[in-house]
Amino acid sequence: MDREILLEVPGDGASCRIRVGSLDPLPWEGPLCVVVDRRVARWHRERLPSGPTLEVRGGESLKTVRNLEKVWSFLKEVGADRGTLVLGVGGGTVTDLVGFATATWHRGIPCAFIATTLLGQVDAAVGGKNGLDWGGAKNQVGTIRQPRFVVCDPGFLSSLSPEDYRGGLAEVVKTALLDGAAFFERLEDWQGLLRHRDPEVLAEVVHRCAAFKALVVQADPQEADRRRILNLGHTLGHAWEVVLGRSHGEAVAAGIVAACDLSVHLGLLDPSWRDRVESLLRGFGLPTRLSASTEALLSVLVQDKKRRRGEIHWVLLAGPGRPLVQPVPLSEVPALRL
Ligand SMILES: NC(=O)c1ccc[n+]([C@@H]2O[C@H](COP(=O)([O-])OP(=O)(O)OC[C@H]3O[C@@H](n4cnc5c(N)ncnc54)[C@H](O)[C@@H]3O)[C@@H](O)[C@H]2O)c1
Repeated sequence: MDREILLEVPGDGASCRIRVGSLDPLPWEGPLCVVVDRRVARWHRERLPSGPTLEVRGGESLKTVRNLEKVWSFLKEVGADRGTLVLGVGGGTVTDLVGFATATWHRGIPCAFIATTLLGQVDAAVGGKNGLDWGGAKNQVGTIRQPRFVVCDPGFLSSLSPEDYRGGLAEVVKTALLDGAAFFERLEDWQGLLRHRDPEVLAEVVHRCAAFKALVVQADPQEADRRRILNLGHTLGHAWEVVLGRSHGEAVAAGIVAACDLSVHLGLLDPSWRDRVESLLRGFGLPTRLSASTEALLSVLVQDKKRRRGEIHWVLLAGPGRPLVQPVPLSEVPALRL
């Protein structure tokens, strides 16, 4: 059964319909063109909407100015204007690129996404942030602009690689921890079913995560404050990703545990919650402890600090559903062992 979430941005009137379920019927009747991840096209070609199509190679290396120009050239070739919908079909790299390309083409033409990775369905395709990597840093260039709609069809997830699927599960655990104990406990119950990609459980989980993110975005569409809670596990996670070259999902899993450790250390979180989080992530085959030289980690954290005008704000937990964002001196962070 399809379920719909309406993300309405107060003020500018933009809204985005997020459908968790099947692609058909696509909520658009005008002209459209498609930018699709080549791997998705290979696995799911018969399910793709018809129209002029550009195939791209998904992965972080997609998010470059060169590939942005390729999308712009495609839009020029097909004569895309403000009456044309550009449908991005793929994971977070495709939706980030298509979101940015359409925000800038003719000062903004409509876009929509079919999210095909677990990370895309629970996070990247929802919320309107888009962007490119530039000058050696991730997401340096980008805008915040809502797509017309997002379809999250768990049927696409069957072909995901084990690594990409696990990476998405790390974000699911993050969302459950931000949402509350009830969702977290369901994940504990569903551990085995999720490991086996049970379609019904996946639909339920994707729906809960997308609905949670939509609520947070609605409360803070421009990422002024509340939206920062979505960075739980990403501060050290990002540093491990850069220093150790670990996948985003693996680094975030360890980052979530490090945020729990810090919360326990500061007397905010009962250690039994940290242990349950660690055990759930481990059950999904994710690493929960990573180590790297403190010096190397600090060099990444200091760059983040500059970007955020002087302070690193950590997302901490006083319990599931009770996140708080506050600066903590680096000397207090157990994972940095200063
Ligand atoms: N805009 C946001 O709010 C936001 C939030 C979180 C992450 N992101 C961005 O999302 C990106 C990561 O997203 P991702 O993990 O989806 O990465 P991705 O787009 O690189 O997809 C991961 C891999 O899965 C493949 N793939 C995609 N769908 C598939 C399918 N159905 N079957 C088989 N293979 C498939 C891709 O080809 C790629 O190799 C990062 O660039 C990150 O910055 C954006």
